[in-house]
Amino acid sequence: MSVAEKFLSMEYGPAPEDPREALAWLDQHGRKLGHFIGGTFRPPAEGVYFDTLDPSTGERLAAVAQGSAADIDAAVKAARGALAEWQSLAPHARARYLYALARQVQKHSRRLAVLETMDNGKPIRESRDLDIPLVARHFYHHAGWAQLLPQEFPGYVACGVVGQIIPWNFPLLMLAWKIAPALATGNTVVLKPAEFTPLTALAFAEICQEVGLPAGVVNIVTGDGATGEALVKHPDVDKIAFTGSTEVGRAIRRATAQSHKKISLELGGKSPFIIFEDADLDSAVEGLVDGIWLNQGQVCCAGSRLLMQESVAETLMHKVRERMSTLRVGPPLDKAIDIGAIVARVQLERIQRLVDQGVAEGATCWQPPSLTMPSRGLFFPPTLLSNVHPTSTVAQQEIFGPVLAAMTFRTPREAVELANNTVYGLAASVWSESINVALHVAAQLKAGVVWVNSTNLFDAASGFGGYKESGYGREGGREGLFEYLEPEWFKHAPRLETKPAAMDQPPEQGIDSAAPPIDRTVKLYIGGKQARPDSGYSVEVRAADGRLLGEAPLGNRKDIRNAVEAARKADGWARTTAHNRAQVLYYIAENLSQRAEEIAGRLAAVVGKEQASAEVQAGIERVFSYAAWADKYDGAVHNPPFRNIALAMHEPVGTVGIVCPADLPLLGLLSLVMPAIAMGNTIVAIPSEAYPLIIGDLYQVFETSDLPGGVVNMVSGRSAELLKVLAEHDDVDAIWSFAGEASSVAAKSLSVGNLKQVFSNEGRAIDWFSIEQGEGRWFLHQTTQVKNIWVPYGE
Ligand code: NAI
Repeated sequence: MSVAEKFLSMEYGPAPEDPREALAWLDQHGRKLGHFIGGTFRPPAEGVYFDTLDPSTGERLAAVAQGSAADIDAAVKAARGALAEWQSLAPHARARYLYALARQVQKHSRRLAVLETMDNGKPIRESRDLDIPLVARHFYHHAGWAQLLPQEFPGYVACGVVGQIIPWNFPLLMLAWKIAPALATGNTVVLKPAEFTPLTALAFAEICQEVGLPAGVVNIVTGDGATGEALVKHPDVDKIAFTGSTEVGRAIRRATAQSHKKISLELGGKSPFIIFEDADLDSAVEGLVDGIWLNQGQVCCAGSRLLMQESVAETLMHKVRERMSTLRVGPPLDKAIDIGAIVARVQLERIQRLVDQGVAEGATCWQPPSLTMPSRGLFFPPTLLSNVHPTSTVAQQEIFGPVLAAMTFRTPREAVELANNTVYGLAASVWSESINVALHVAAQLKAGVVWVNSTNLFDAASGFGGYKESGYGREGGREGLFEYLEPEWFKHAPRLETKPAAMDQPPEQGIDSAAPPIDRTVKLYIGGKQARPDSGYSVEVRAADGRLLGEAPLGNRKDIRNAVEAARKADGWARTTAHNRAQVLYYIAENLSQRAEEIAGRLAAVVGKEQASAEVQAGIERVFSYAAWADKYDGAVHNPPFRNIALAMHEPVGTVGIVCPADLPLLGLLSLVMPAIAMGNTIVAIPSEAYPLIIGDLYQVFETSDLPGGVVNMVSGRSAELLKVLAEHDDVDAIWSFAGEASSVAAKSLSVGNLKQVFSNEGRAIDWFSIEQGEGRWFLHQTTQVKNIWVPYGE
C-alpha cells in the first residue's frame, strides 16, 4: 500500500478531551451555582434554580440560579456602589486588573474550553483554539485601552452602570467582548449570560475573585429572558449592551425608549459568501466550511447565503458536496470532530422547521448520505439547500444552524444586489483572486465586516457590528469604546425646559395690525428644488413681538416621502471624494458669509439681534470646521495578530432624518446637517418650528454652492408629525432628534420597526456656540459606521 493510499484509507480513532477537571470544578460548587453579586456567590432571592444540560448527551451539568427582579436590583446596587471606587482608580491600576484577568483566563484556558464545550455543544477544537484565546486577547487589548484612556479619549467619561445581555453561541467570548471594554472605560457591570450556557460566565466570576477585582465591579446574574428584561427595565442602569436575536433587540429598544439609557445592539445576520469565477475554488470551499459550519452554524455572522458566479456553480457545488461528505459530526469533546451539538432542543426544532419550509418553497435539500450521526444528543447534519430563490424564507431568515442556502449570480453587480438584498448587514465574505474585483465589491456591500478571501476572522482591535437590522454600535477597537463613554459635559448638561411646540402657540398679544405684513413666503426644499407643500397649507410665522414675518409651508407625510426619495437618489454624494465635499462646504460658508447681514437681519426678529448675528458668525465657522473635517475624519488600518490587514473604513450611515433645535434656527441646523453631509450622508431636515423661514435663506445659499440636489432636503411643518413619518420610513437609516425630551422619546419609540440608529440630546441643553459641545468627534462618530475589510497578504 502506498503512502497516499494509506492516507486515504485511514480512519479516525476516538480522541476525547478529558473532562475531569471541568467536572471537578462543578463538583467543587456542589453542582449548584448562585449569582455572583458584590464579589461573592449568593443564592437567588426567590430560591429558584434551573438545570443546564450538556446538549451532546442530555446530561445535567449543574443547577444555576434563576434571577428575579430582586436579584437584578441587588446586582445593580452592587455595581452602583462599586462605581466611585472603580472610577477613582488610576488608569494604570484599572489596566492591571484587566491584564490580570487576561492572565488568569490563560492559566485556566483548558478548563474554560472544556466547560464551554460541555455547556454549549461546540467542538473542543473551536473552544480551545478560537473562543478562549480570543477571550484572553480581548482582555489584553483592553488593558491597553484602560491605560491610554485619558490621553486617547480626553473629555469622555464612563456611562456608569452597564447592563449586558449575551447569547449562547459564544458564551465566554461574548462576555469578554462586553466586559473588557466596559471595565477599561471605567464602568461597572451587571451581566446576564444566556440560560442555555451560564457556566463559563460563573467560572469567570471566580476568576474575578481570584485576581481580587474590587467587589461589585463585575456582577453576574443568571436566568432567562425575564431576568434580562428586569435588567433592561431597571431604572438605575445607564447603558444596555445586547447581543442576540433581532426580535429581542427590538423589544429592548421599545422598553428603553422612554429612558435615557444608551444602547448598543449586535443582532442577527444573513451574511453572503460570494465566490467569483476567478477565485481559488478549493480555498473558497475550505473557507465555506468555516463560514457556515463553525459552531454548527450558530454564528451571527455565518456565511449562510452562498452566492456563486454561474460559470463555476456546478464545479463548486460538486466540491462543496465532496467536502461536506468528509465532515464529522459527533461528541464535541472529541478533538477530531467538525460539527458538535446544537445548543438546545428548541433550536434543533427551529432549524428543522426552517429547512422543511425551504424545501416546501422549492429548495433542494442535500445532506451527506454516508454521514454517521450520533445516536443520542442534539445534532443536525451539515445541510445544503440549492435552487433557493433569493426571496424565499431560507434566503432571508436567520436559520442559525449548519444549513447553507446556495444561489447564483452572473455579474459583480448582480452579486452586490443579491448580497445586499436582506434586512441584515452584519458580515460578508468575498472570494476572488482579483484584488480589484474583491475590493470593488467589498466597498459596495452593506455590512460591518467584509472578509476578502477569508472568513470568520475576529480581533479585539477591529470593531465588529452591523448595518441595518443587524444592529448598531461596534464591539472591539477604538470605535467599540465609544459605546461605553459619553462626553463629560453631556452627562452634566441640564435638561431643556419643555415648551409647547411653536406652531401650536397662540400669537402673542399686541400685534401691530396697522403695520403691513412683509410677504415672505418660502417653500420646502426637496431634491434641490423649491417645492410647494402637498397640503397646500402654510402657517404664519411671527416675530417675538407678534409681528407677522411670513408664511412657512406646512409639510406633510407626502412631502417627507418625496424628500426621503430625493435623499436616497442623491446617494452618489457618498461616493464623491472627501476633498470635493470639503469644497462644497467651503463654498456654502462663503455664500453664507456674503448674505450674513440679510440673514441675521431676518433672524433677529425671532431670536433678537445679538443672537442672530452670533448665530450667523458661529454658523459660518461651523461650516468651515466640517469642511476641514470632511477629509480628516478617516478610518484606520488595523494589524491583527495574523497575516491580515483590516481596513477600518468610515462609511456614511445613509439617509439621516434630522429634527433641528427650536431655539437656534440657523446654528442648530448647521451644527447637525453639516457634519452629516461632510461625511457623505444625505439629509431630510425639519427646521426649527420657531423660525422655519430659515429654509428660504438656506436654500438660496445651497443652490449657489454646488451642493447637488437631494443631498439636503428641508421640510417645515409640525415637527412631531413629520418626525413620525421619518422615524417610521424604512428608507431612513438614522434619526437625529435635538428638539427636546418628547421628540427624543418619539424618535426612539417610533423607529423600533427597522431599528434605526437614534442620536439625540436626550432632552438636554447643548451650548451650540461652544466648540466643545456643539461640534467635533461626538457628532462625527454618529455620521459614520465603521466597515472593517479584512485582506490577507503573504503566500
Ligand atoms: P434571544 O435573543 O432570545 O436570547 C439572547 C439573550 O437575550 C439571552 O440571554 C436571553 O435570555 C435574553 N433575552 C431574551 N428575551 C429577553 C428580553 N425580553 N429582554 C432582555 N433579554 C432577553 O435568542 P434565542 O431565543 O436564544 O435564539 C433565537 C434566535 O435568535 C436564534 O435562532 C438566532 O436566529 C438568533 N440569535 C442570534 C444571535 C446573534 O449572535 N446574533 C445569538 C443568539 C440567537
